[in-house]
Amino acid sequence: MSSEENKNQVMEWIDARFPLTATWNKHIGKYYTPKNFNLWYLMGVLSLFVLVNQILTGIWLTMNFDPTSAGAFDSVEYIMRDVDWGWLLRYMHSTGASAFFIVVYLHMFRGLMYGSYRKPRELVWIFGMIIFVLLMAEAFMGYLLPWGQMSYWGAQVIINLFGAISESLGVWIRGDYVISGVTLTRFFALHVVAVPLALIIMVFLHIVALHQVGSMNPDGIEIKKVKDENGIPKDGIPFHPYFTVKDINGIVGFLIIFTAIIFFAPEMGGYFLEPPNFLPANPLKTPEHIAPVWYFTPFYSILRAIPDQLFGVIGMGGAIVVLFLLPWLDRSPVKSIRYKDWIYKTILAVFLIAFFGLGYLGTQKPTPTLTMLSRIFATIYFLFFLLMPFWSKLGKTKPVPERVTH
Ligand code: HEM
Repeated sequence: MSSEENKNQVMEWIDARFPLTATWNKHIGKYYTPKNFNLWYLMGVLSLFVLVNQILTGIWLTMNFDPTSAGAFDSVEYIMRDVDWGWLLRYMHSTGASAFFIVVYLHMFRGLMYGSYRKPRELVWIFGMIIFVLLMAEAFMGYLLPWGQMSYWGAQVIINLFGAISESLGVWIRGDYVISGVTLTRFFALHVVAVPLALIIMVFLHIVALHQVGSMNPDGIEIKKVKDENGIPKDGIPFHPYFTVKDINGIVGFLIIFTAIIFFAPEMGGYFLEPPNFLPANPLKTPEHIAPVWYFTPFYSILRAIPDQLFGVIGMGGAIVVLFLLPWLDRSPVKSIRYKDWIYKTILAVFLIAFFGLGYLGTQKPTPTLTMLSRIFATIYFLFFLLMPFWSKLGKTKPVPERVTH
């Protein structure tokens, strides 16, 4: 019997018991993907790649990490200095956290530009937003683990906010009246087991939901509308081998940048790893300036922009909740930015300036001028979304072609 016949027999044996070939074909081998994908469509795969990086490096870090208030800081130093390749694992994990948010923010922005969340992809977006919230929780809890000054005081500030909703809520989260070893141990359990598990499940659902309706593209056209005599979308090409190969190229490009950062600038000037975190947590000494890591700062700025603490928390939460509603707020007759006019592009540009402005201001010490600026930007942020049902209908749209363009 030839090896080919042998292989066929093995596949037949498996397929009779498990839908291996059918699943491969549905999701990869015969998943018809729009042929006009651009670089923005790489970010989903990169998010997946970084997720795997975080899980693998996280497993090996856990082998030498001590999740107690007495041992955590020293165990991270031990990983950095004494564990073979420990420094690499740690920097891959800490740089990976920032890389995760960079690719996910770009992935979300792509959604905004091309209207990827519009019908019938609302659930793809909702699952994505649940992933985003989980990711924030994961990063927040992970940041406490090295038990440095910023780990400690950053968590103190944010958990106190929950205390603004109800005192007992803060105590419930911390497991104590202040951040302590109890908090560290429970954050460790959630960071290494519970949240990654939830993330993996949500990413699975995200992709299943996407494959149920099929991928969008930069033209905002449904490729399933124009099929050939065999029922295959004329503008679709099988995911494998075309996009598997293209994505490998993208991953290599990403790795060049990622490794350059790991080897030459893992702290990224204090943006990826903040200077106070090289000092052990000291509950008796507050750092001069407490600021979260860059990926939280747009939302942190919104919190600080609102004078009342409770309303600040509501504002910060609202800034995230409003993103969930995007599929229903956008009423534009066309999906993609390519067929919209200058009104849309100007409003989007103003929104971007406000979002980056909020991000920058969140890293700075508040002064009266900066606070005023953050109030203006926060107002723009909310107006962008809340008035979207009206402004998205404004302006002239260009005719959308039948078939995808290049
Ligand atoms: C761990 C995080 C995530 C992973 C691994 C992931 C993975 C993916 C992958 C592989 C795709 C298909 C390729 C692509 O279009 O780029 C995709 C599509 C999509 N994702 Fe995500 N995603 C993540 C987070 C998010 C978030 C936070 C959102 C938005 C809130 C989101 C919204 C979307 C949308 C709307 C699509 C469909 C795009 C289209 O067909 O045009 N994803 N995602």
